Amino acid sequence: QGFLQFVGKATLITTIGGVGALYYITQREKNPGPQLPFDPDKKTLVILGSGWGATSLLKNLDTADFNVVVVSPRNFFLFTPLLPSVAVGTLNNRSIIQSIRYITRHKARNVSVIEAEATDVDPVNKLIKFADNSEVRGAVSSTAIPYDYLVYAVGAETQTFNIPGVKEHACFMKELNDAERFQNEFIDCLETAGFPGQDPQEIERLLHMVVVGGGPTGVELSGELHDFLEDDLKSWYPELAGKVRITLVEALPSVLPTFSKQLIDYTQSTFKESKIEVLTKTMVKEIKERSVILQMPDKSIQEVPCGLVVWAGGNKGRKVTQDLMAKFPEVQTNRRGIVVDDFLRMTGAEDSIFAIGDCTSTAYAPTAQVASQQGSYLARHLHQMAKHDELQTKLSRLEALAATVVGEEEKKATLRDVEMTKKQLAKIKYRPFDYSHQGSLAYIGSEKAVADLPFMNGNVATGGVATYMFWRSAYLSTLFSLRNRTLVATDWIKVKLFGRDVAREQ
Ligand code: FAD
Ligand code: NAI
Repeated sequence: QGFLQFVGKATLITTIGGVGALYYITQREKNPGPQLPFDPDKKTLVILGSGWGATSLLKNLDTADFNVVVVSPRNFFLFTPLLPSVAVGTLNNRSIIQSIRYITRHKARNVSVIEAEATDVDPVNKLIKFADNSEVRGAVSSTAIPYDYLVYAVGAETQTFNIPGVKEHACFMKELNDAERFQNEFIDCLETAGFPGQDPQEIERLLHMVVVGGGPTGVELSGELHDFLEDDLKSWYPELAGKVRITLVEALPSVLPTFSKQLIDYTQSTFKESKIEVLTKTMVKEIKERSVILQMPDKSIQEVPCGLVVWAGGNKGRKVTQDLMAKFPEVQTNRRGIVVDDFLRMTGAEDSIFAIGDCTSTAYAPTAQVASQQGSYLARHLHQMAKHDELQTKLSRLEALAATVVGEEEKKATLRDVEMTKKQLAKIKYRPFDYSHQGSLAYIGSEKAVADLPFMNGNVATGGVATYMFWRSAYLSTLFSLRNRTLVATDWIKVKLFGRDVAREQ
C-alpha cells in the first residue's frame, strides 16, 4: 500500500510539473519580451520570402547584427510536406501554418515584417520595390526600400509548360489555398455526382480524379486521396465511393524518378493494390473543363473525361526572379534559377545579394531540406560578415587615430590595437555551404511510406508501415513550433476517432 501511495504521489507531482512546464513554455512563447530598437549604425538586411529558406535563416539569425526587414506576400510559414494531408482533410489548414511574427517577435532586435510582394530588385542602387497585392489595400500600396544585404528566398511557382487549360481548369498543390480549393472541389464533385437523375456516364466523369505529375507531390496526393476514399468516403457516400477513380499521369517511364528502383517498384505495386491507375510515359497535352487530353505511350491521343485535375508538374522561376536574372545577362543564364557561388552569393552581385532555396539553380534538388540548411548556413555566414564589418570599422577608426595621435605611448597603444584588430579580422574564415542529405521520404497511402536514407555511406531504401511511423514522427518533430506539433497530433487523433470532415465550404 505504501508503494502504491508513493507511485500515486510521484505521478501527481510529475503531472503537475509537466503541466506547469507546458504552461510556462506556452506563455513564454505567447508573450515575447521587449526588443532592441532599429539601430541607425547597423546595416539593413532585407529578406524576401517567408518559406523554408527565409524562416530557417530568421530562426538562426542574430538580429542584433542588422536591422532586418522581411517582405513576403504570405505572413506565415507553410509546412509544405503536410499540404496533401490538408487537401483531403486529414489535417486542418491552420495546423501546418505559423505566423512569421511568431519568430520575429522573439528575436533580440525588432524585425520589420511587411506583407507585400517584391516586384523589382535594383541591384545597382540596392533598392527593393514591393506592393501590397492582397484584397485589402490602403491609400499607399507600393513603395521601395534600400538594402545593404539582400537574401532572396522567394521560392518558385508551378511549372505549367504553357500547356493549354492548366491554369484555367486544374488545381495546383503548392500553396495553402490550393489544398483548400482541392478539398472543396473534390467534395463538390461527389455531391454533384449524387444529384438526382445524374446519368451514369456523368457520374463516372465527375468521380474521376486525375493527378498530373508522378513526382513526390503527385504521388503523396494520390496516396492521401486513396486513404480518404477508403477510410471515410465509403461510409459517407456508400453509393458513390466505389465509383471514384484516381489516375496518376506521368510523362517519364516511372513515378518518383529520383527514388531508388526498389522504392519505385514498391510504390507502383502499392498503387496497383490501392486501385490507383498509374499511366507512365503518358503526357498531358491539354486540360479542358471536363476532360484531359493525353498523349499515350504509342503517341496516340486520347480524351479522358474527368471531374477534377490536380496539376503537380514541377517548379519554374517566378517572374520577379527572371527579371532579376536578366539584370546579369552574362552570368545568370541558367533557366532553372539563380546561379550562386559556394557562399550562396548570387553570381554577378557577389557583395550584396544571397539567394537560397527553390529560386536557385544548384546541384541539389529543390527541397525544403536544402532550403532550410541554406538558411541556417546563411545565418552563420551573415553573423561572420557583421563581425567582419564591425572589425573593419574599428580598424579604420584606429588607423585614423594612429595617424593623428601625438603622444609616443598613446601611439604605441593605438598601433597595438590596430595589429590586434587585424589579427581578429584575419581569423574570420568564411566556410562554403556544405549540404548534408538526410534522406528522402514520401507518403504513398495505405499507411505506407517510402524512404531513401543515406546510411553507412550507402543508401538504405525502405518502405512500409514502419517507414510510415517514421514519416509521421519525422514530420512531427520538424514541424515549426510546439503549437503546430500539438495541432497536427490532435488532428491525427481526431481523424482516427471521428474520420475526416466532408462538409464543403460554400
Ligand atoms: P518557399 O518555401 O516556397 O517560400 C517562398 C516564399 O517566398 C513564400 O513565403 C512566398 O510567399 C514568398 N514569395 C513569393 N513571391 C514573393 C515575392 N515576389 N516577394 C517576396 N516574397 C515572395 N521538400 C522536402 O524536402 N520534403 C518534403 O516532404 C516536401 N514536401 C513537399 C510537398 C509539397 C506539396 C510541395 C509543394 C513541396 C514539398 N517540398 C518538400 C518542397 C519544399 O516545399 C520546397 O523545396 C521549399 O518550400 C523551398 O523553400 P523556399 O524557401 O525556397 O520556398
Ligand atoms: P517534380 O518536378 O518532382 O515532378 C513533376 C513531374 O511531373 C515530373 O516527373 C514530370 O515528368 C511530370 N510532368 C510534367 N509535365 C507533365 C505532363 N504534361 N504530363 C505528364 N507528366 C508531366 O515536382 P513535385 O513533385 O511538385 O516536386 C517538386 C520538388 O519538391 C521536388 O524537388 C521534390 O523532390 C520536392 N518534394 C519532395 C517531397 C518529399 O520529399 N516527400 C514531396 C513533394 C515535393
